[in-house]
Amino acid sequence: MLEHKLITKRIGNINPESIDDYLKHDGYKMLEKALSMRRIEIHDNFEASKLRGRGGAGFPVSVKLMALAKESRTPKYVVCNADEGEPGNFKDRYLMEHDPHQIIEGMLIAAYATVATQGYIYIRGEYANAMRIMQKAIDDARERGYLGKNILGKRFAFDIEIRQGAGSYVCGEEFALLESIEGKAGRTRVKPPFPTSVGLFGQPTLINNVETLATFPAIIDIGGEAFAKIGTESSTGTKLISLSGNIKNKGVFEVPFGISMRDIITKLGGGVPNGRKIKMIQLGGACGPIIPEYMLDMVIDFERFEEFESKTGAGAIIVIDDRFDVFDILKRISAFFEHESCGKCTPCREGNLHMLKTVEKFVDYKATEKDLNALESLARVMHQTSLCGLGQTAPTAVISTLHYFRFSYLNRIEESNIEEAA
Ligand SMILES: Cc1cc2nc3c(=O)[nH]c(=O)nc-3n(C[C@H](O)[C@H](O)[C@H](O)COP(=O)(O)O)c2cc1C
Ligand code: SF4
Repeated sequence: MLEHKLITKRIGNINPESIDDYLKHDGYKMLEKALSMRRIEIHDNFEASKLRGRGGAGFPVSVKLMALAKESRTPKYVVCNADEGEPGNFKDRYLMEHDPHQIIEGMLIAAYATVATQGYIYIRGEYANAMRIMQKAIDDARERGYLGKNILGKRFAFDIEIRQGAGSYVCGEEFALLESIEGKAGRTRVKPPFPTSVGLFGQPTLINNVETLATFPAIIDIGGEAFAKIGTESSTGTKLISLSGNIKNKGVFEVPFGISMRDIITKLGGGVPNGRKIKMIQLGGACGPIIPEYMLDMVIDFERFEEFESKTGAGAIIVIDDRFDVFDILKRISAFFEHESCGKCTPCREGNLHMLKTVEKFVDYKATEKDLNALESLARVMHQTSLCGLGQTAPTAVISTLHYFRFSYLNRIEESNIEEAA
């Protein structure tokens, strides 16, 4: 089975702006079920599910849930990360625009399991339509008694507010996001402490991605063990893939972990148009590795991706055909990170600037062997010493191309024909 519709099963069958449609399709039934369970049973299900975060880092969800549940300080918060600023990713927007109540239901289950009372959804500023749909869903859920006090007649209170991002990529990073909700400039903090102990307004906070939270009702529905049977040993469940670039069928596909990229690109994506050939694929988004066509049989799996010193990212696959030059692609990526660096730490602030300048030399046929060596060590230093994930992953595309497309660097140096200074 190529697609496995677990969290996208309602999409296309409901009007996302109708709470009645959602209720007709078993909406809020999993909240009801969760409220009838003991909290420890809910935690056991999440542990058995082996669900890992879908926002990029793949952190085990049950560890965060348990850490928040154990905190006695109140109030506690549940924050949904809907910033989705990574180029090539659009699956969170898809979920918000097509099944908003499922996200609210997921947040409610998280809140009940951890005794949190207030939720926030931090939505990327450019997502005006998603914001409108989510706000209507929140208002409707509150009107029907799914948000507010005494939810479903229980001693359980939880409400949600939306916060709008302002177009900064780093605000998707969890601490920068929390600072932004607090009304400060979106900059990361040194960790530990982690958000589950010192998060929003200094209080215990769970922060998860849209897709992660949208998966919570499905786990309550089928149970943690059944969920863990979908996918692979280390990567359970399904993953939403944002498929884009030079591909016939662009869009969002829900697939089980363990599917190969070749199947996604050729069978779901319909391959590359106009008889062109695939030259390279960027995985995860701008912060992900660029790999050659011959690696397409690699499967979607957290562990496999970690071999690239990278994470699965949020599940973007960007297909690039044979018309494109690797250095033009790297220039765009480097310019993006140079622009988005918040400037707080030196390796990222200065590193991205130098990386862009060096990549430009390759674009302009002005590169030497020295530039290649400098690029290589700069990329490593940035990866190892930057303060947050932005600076740590900004050089991933360069590092991966230095490995898989080294011949392109060497050819370009030869074509540049610049005399090396002694
Ligand atoms: C620069 C940067 C940008 C990020 N952007 C997002 C984002 O847009 N959405 C998201 O869910 N996580 C993003 N993350 C990851 C978050 O810091 C955090 O790990 C995530 O929200 C946790 O949710 P999860 O465990 O459900 O994946 C970003 C991380 C970094 C370093
Ligand atoms: S790595 Fe970049 S984005 Fe992160 S704190 Fe340092 S300068 Fe800011």
